[in-house]
Amino acid sequence: MDRDLAGFLAGFSMMARGNAFLNRLSIGSVSPQIPVLPGAIDGHAPPGGIAKHGRFEGDVSMTRQDFNNGDDVHFQIDLFDEFLTAIAKYGDDDPVTGPKSIVNMKTMQEFKYQRFQEAQAQDRTVSFHASRIASSYNEAAFILTFFANGTTGTLSKQALTSIFQNQTFAPNWFRRSSPGTFGLIVDTAAEVLSPHPIQPGANVRGFYKLDPPSNAVRTSLAI
Ligand code: HEM
Repeated sequence: MDRDLAGFLAGFSMMARGNAFLNRLSIGSVSPQIPVLPGAIDGHAPPGGIAKHGRFEGDVSMTRQDFNNGDDVHFQIDLFDEFLTAIAKYGDDDPVTGPKSIVNMKTMQEFKYQRFQEAQAQDRTVSFHASRIASSYNEAAFILTFFANGTTGTLSKQALTSIFQNQTFAPNWFRRSSPGTFGLIVDTAAEVLSPHPIQPGANVRGFYKLDPPSNAVRTSLAI
């Protein structure tokens, strides 16, 4: 990640879920080492850490359950199996790693949309407002751009499995040769979303209710 993108992520997580006054942030859940903000400006509980649902952690993740449906923090093998199935269906062939073994754009486009459809059907309170759509598709772009092997520019299912399941890089895996920028991530995320655009909204009593147009949209329509 280039400096601006890494700085944004670190800064956003600190502001959203840390104690910026003390410059401390839990990279897990609530920690006794991170006290309530001065003046309790964010409520009377300690900031939750980046694992706490609602600001950074959100619904429709790729390998974690929705908050309302189960474990939204730890890796879920059944969701990862869905990812592997999508690779087997849509992935590219590779002479070294085998047929249908490369995670391409199509794989990600279909897998992300499938996860949204599942969440809509299974999570009575799924929340997928504009900010979460952006962050969750950016995370999908992280996979395509940052998990690919810098030597070949491709991401094999073996390397993906090593990173997600074992939290280690695969043998002979090298990072990309140039820093990935905000622009690269936003463009890649837009391409992942493009074949199946999603309207921001949330399930209310099990039905997906679309968000009203934003003020900005209303203003521009009024003009
Ligand atoms: C300061 C830097 C970072 C912070 C604070 C951060 C934080 C987070 C958080 C809170 C989530 C959970 C969001 C959710 O509910 O899905 C997440 C997901 C994710 N992050 Fe990061 N992250 C950082 C850097 C990175 C980097 C450098 C990469 C890749 C090289 C990365 C890849 C991912 C991926 C792929 C997911 C999605 C996991 C899934 O949906 O199963 N992140 N990150």
